[in-house]
Amino acid sequence: MIGRLNHVAIAVKDLDAAAKVYRDTLGATLSAPLPQPEHGVTVIFVELPNSKIELLAPLGVDSPINAFLERNPGGGIHHVCYEVDDILAARDRMKAQGARILGSGEPKIGAHGKPVLFMHPKDFLGTLVELEQA
Ligand code: CO
Repeated sequence: MIGRLNHVAIAVKDLDAAAKVYRDTLGATLSAPLPQPEHGVTVIFVELPNSKIELLAPLGVDSPINAFLERNPGGGIHHVCYEVDDILAARDRMKAQGARILGSGEPKIGAHGKPVLFMHPKDFLGTLVELEQA
């Protein structure tokens, strides 16, 4: 059912410092910072030949990545995102398998303008999984 790895997201406190690591140390091509107020994060996209890295920093006082950054003050891998052809069919299949969907259970528009859902990390080997409509 799952398709391509769309991105790996890394949460950081300092987006400028994180951008410097990917741009200067790793020599990657980066987007400008993109505020995503409805998700409580500011994102920088790192374009790789076969996938993307998203650098996430908190936006606003109740950002959903604040708790993660309290546990991981130096930053860390926050989630992985897999593409699916039909996000509602994928959701229903995973629910039928006992997997829990975070939030309302209805897709939201994600950072790439496509519907996304987040799945409970306890049901996926300790990893927060994002599904994105391909
Ligand atoms: Co993501």
